[in-house]
Amino acid sequence: MACENDNNNKGLLLALGLVLCVTLSFFPRVTEGRVPFACDPRNGLTRGFKFCNTHVPIHVRVQDLIARLTLPEKIRLVVNNAIAVPRLGIQGYEWWSEALHGVSNVGPGTKFGGAFPGATMFPQVISTAASFNQSLWQEIGRVVSDEARAMYNGGQAGLTYWSPNVNIFRDPRWGRGQETPGEDPTLAAKYAASYVKGLQGDSAGNHLKVAACCKHYTAYDLDNWNGVDRFHFNAKVSKQDLEDTYDVPFKACVLEGQVASVMCSYNQVNGKPTCADPDLLRNTIRGQWRLNGYIVSDCDSVGVFFDNQHYTKTPEEAAAEAIKAGLDLDCGPFLAIHTDSAIRKGLISENDLNLALANLISVQMRLGMFDGEPSTQPYGNLGPRDVCTSAHQQLALEAARESIVLLQNKGNSLPLSPSRLRTIGVVGPNADATVTMIGNYAGVACGYTTPLQGIARYVKTAHQVGCRGVACRGNELFGAAETIARQADAIVLVMGLDQTVEAETRDRVGLLLPGLQQELVTRVARAAKGPVILLIMSGGPVDISFAKNDPKISAILWVGYPGQAGGTAIADVIFGTTNPGKLFPHHYLEFISYTI
Ligand SMILES: *[C@@H]1O[C@H](CO)[C@@H](O)[C@H](O)[C@H]1NC(C)=O
Repeated sequence: MACENDNNNKGLLLALGLVLCVTLSFFPRVTEGRVPFACDPRNGLTRGFKFCNTHVPIHVRVQDLIARLTLPEKIRLVVNNAIAVPRLGIQGYEWWSEALHGVSNVGPGTKFGGAFPGATMFPQVISTAASFNQSLWQEIGRVVSDEARAMYNGGQAGLTYWSPNVNIFRDPRWGRGQETPGEDPTLAAKYAASYVKGLQGDSAGNHLKVAACCKHYTAYDLDNWNGVDRFHFNAKVSKQDLEDTYDVPFKACVLEGQVASVMCSYNQVNGKPTCADPDLLRNTIRGQWRLNGYIVSDCDSVGVFFDNQHYTKTPEEAAAEAIKAGLDLDCGPFLAIHTDSAIRKGLISENDLNLALANLISVQMRLGMFDGEPSTQPYGNLGPRDVCTSAHQQLALEAARESIVLLQNKGNSLPLSPSRLRTIGVVGPNADATVTMIGNYAGVACGYTTPLQGIARYVKTAHQVGCRGVACRGNELFGAAETIARQADAIVLVMGLDQTVEAETRDRVGLLLPGLQQELVTRVARAAKGPVILLIMSGGPVDISFAKNDPKISAILWVGYPGQAGGTAIADVIFGTTNPGKLFPHHYLEFISYTI
């Protein structure tokens, strides 16, 4: 209805119309797409249910709901694609969404398109970690959860996000190291608590903005290396190392961050699958750290410890071991298929299942999912206009600037002065990178500024890729890159890795630049008439001793995977708009080569 009155209206009608318009405009914006998950106020059936009564304490509402569920319903609620229970007015729910450094569509719970074509993509976590800035991490979490809530309201995302990844990045060849805040337990602990607080909101009381999840517990830093994959990896860890290293970020995540979920991993620790280990789940996470939330498996990891690890003789035993160990939710179908016969065989009881359900439903209630119309709730007014805002995109740029690490600056060759350069050569397989800059567990970015575009805002550029892709298998394009180097007043080489080299299920076997990249760098540097600036775009560390020792290479920057605004930040650092050393003396790290 439009708030207009035509000229024929009598004064009274006009006044009424105005009142109506004013009243209507006080009603919250109803965002299209989202049917209330449960307790729809328009549904006469559900109005009388105690579990829908927001004045009743959550634990009482949870018990009321569990008492109304049948065993088959319960069994289909402890898996990621939880069924609808229409007779109780409850919709189906997909528990699996991801938001590692921006709302992601890696999980089936989140979709881009329509009113939500993209979201703000922050630098990959290994980059942001290099800022050493706790308030930045929390601020990113706040922005990501604003966008997540907006997408939930629009019916395109869930409220349970299986992020962050706080595994200790101990083996630098691990393809997923990029997702983590690195190998330092103290920093990882601070990161975990800050990001989770940002995502979940400064929960006055028990309310959750979105539910975060610290994963993957624990000692997981191998995906696929030298014939061993994560489904067969047995991490042998001493009690001390577990306590002093691997547990540290998880403990901080639960105790300080008050996270609503922890995920167990695929690998075994000391011969036991983590998702079947009551010492890890029931005793440590829930017992000692008092997790207020749910424990979820990695996707199909219960199936993996039965099918791949042959940890139990029967699938029913596997289902029972997982539930007895303290697992509440299975990502995958295994529990939906085998729990019924596990109960029939007496391996677990229906009450064991009730305890898991209570942990799950409590989180959904804390998220407001049983409070009726989402648009009348906290964050209910967030919508498409709250995604990719200029403030959010500015924060992505700020994060990228704070992430970039200056490794070397011989003879103060940086910053470059735009007024003294006619042209700058921008060379390398990552020179015009877009999606490479956001790394994995990302979504669709609002937009990108590539390194080439960022640099072109300061100075006229000439561009050559030098190699086809980061694999850099041939040298047929080297000549063109050398030609640029001979002519340009300065050269920026944007080298490094991407998801074809380091990724989930893809570990590296060495730490050198892939293929012929070293040769390209050396040849371009030799041909260069001006200063040579080397940029390494990567998640995992790269051994660049050759470049450190090359007298023709003056400055070296590690730019990580700097996110959607990476190219702007890179250019700002190169031309001195941002000083990567001023605020953070640790950015002058000398230690740039890694040996194994
Ligand atoms: C840390 O991040 C915050 C929030 O984005 C920012 O305001 C602050 O300047 C940063 N601190 C430093 C030392 O850069």
